[in-house]
Amino acid sequence: MATTVRSFCKINLGLAIGPARADGFHALATCYQTLAVHDRVAVEARPAAETRLTLTSTDARVPLDGRNTAWKMVERALAAMGVRAEVAIHIEKRLPVQGGLGAGSANAVAALVGLEREMVRAGLSTLPEAKQLRIAAEVGSDVPLFLVGGAVLGTGRGEQVSPLRDFPPMECVLALPEAGVSTPQAFRDWDAIQGTGHGTQGSGLTGAEGSDRLITLSRALSVAVCPEAGTNSSGVTANGGDLAEMVNPLLALVRTGIENDFEQVVFRQHPFLGEIKRILAGSGKPEDAAVCAGLSGSGSALFGLYWSADAASAAEARLTAAGIRSLRTRTLPRAEYWRTMVGG
Ligand code: C5P
Repeated sequence: MATTVRSFCKINLGLAIGPARADGFHALATCYQTLAVHDRVAVEARPAAETRLTLTSTDARVPLDGRNTAWKMVERALAAMGVRAEVAIHIEKRLPVQGGLGAGSANAVAALVGLEREMVRAGLSTLPEAKQLRIAAEVGSDVPLFLVGGAVLGTGRGEQVSPLRDFPPMECVLALPEAGVSTPQAFRDWDAIQGTGHGTQGSGLTGAEGSDRLITLSRALSVAVCPEAGTNSSGVTANGGDLAEMVNPLLALVRTGIENDFEQVVFRQHPFLGEIKRILAGSGKPEDAAVCAGLSGSGSALFGLYWSADAASAAEARLTAAGIRSLRTRTLPRAEYWRTMVGG
């Protein structure tokens, strides 16, 4: 019988893009947050004389060969284990393909988790964590985060991950517009506006200013891991807040401004996505206000986080009235991410 794994997705609570690196990737700093909404990945595997992979999916847009992240992950994991196996993977899609929610990346980790369960059943051992992380980083920049779950600090090209202390659980509304955004193109568009006067700083972002944004966000995020990190000996934070505010790391992050740099390029090309962010942010009534709202990754999905179910329901109703597809979910803390991943 196959092992069924919930393949949860993520949003980005802030994303600062730095300069392009020599390898063509961009340095970045972000806070990933996993959500309860998920695809399902079923894996059936047994040791065999030759490795043979097959992949099926409920969604015609999912590639069924070596271009698929789950395929790549299983292929690499088997090679690292030194095992040959027949593996059948089935991906039941609920999440949008290329929506900025990391769904394809999560499918890769879900396939690995499923494969390992199956291999353990066959009396074989699993890969050490460091090896899993290395393979995940080879498959994609936002794959390793799904080996951590909950609130995750992402640096490097996004593949360097460390667990953050979980934020309080929140209601989440996803807006899923039809527009498709290519991530490599969004990075190229970001490069194109450097120094053109189109950045938020008015005079444009030089490489140095881009690095400053990285440092500011990384600092806010490291405060979220360790509240003491942002304080001096008098208990006053480096950015002028008081210690009480740092007790809730999410509020500290919001205060720093959890902007997603991709909004500067993506909202210019698709102005209605900026309008959707405003719809998610609130209605003008204080009780409807989002804790924060924004683009996830390079989009086109946007999210709103809310303390109350009523505020989330009101946001859903505003999206429906505007004719925008939405998905209701909630943030998924790390312990629950791992506890609920397998089975069901
Ligand atoms: O790592 P991943 O395969 O998701 O990246 C897809 C593309 O996005 C890369 O080939 C690169 O063009 C761009 N990218 C980038 N900087 C990052 C992550 C991705 O330029 N930090």
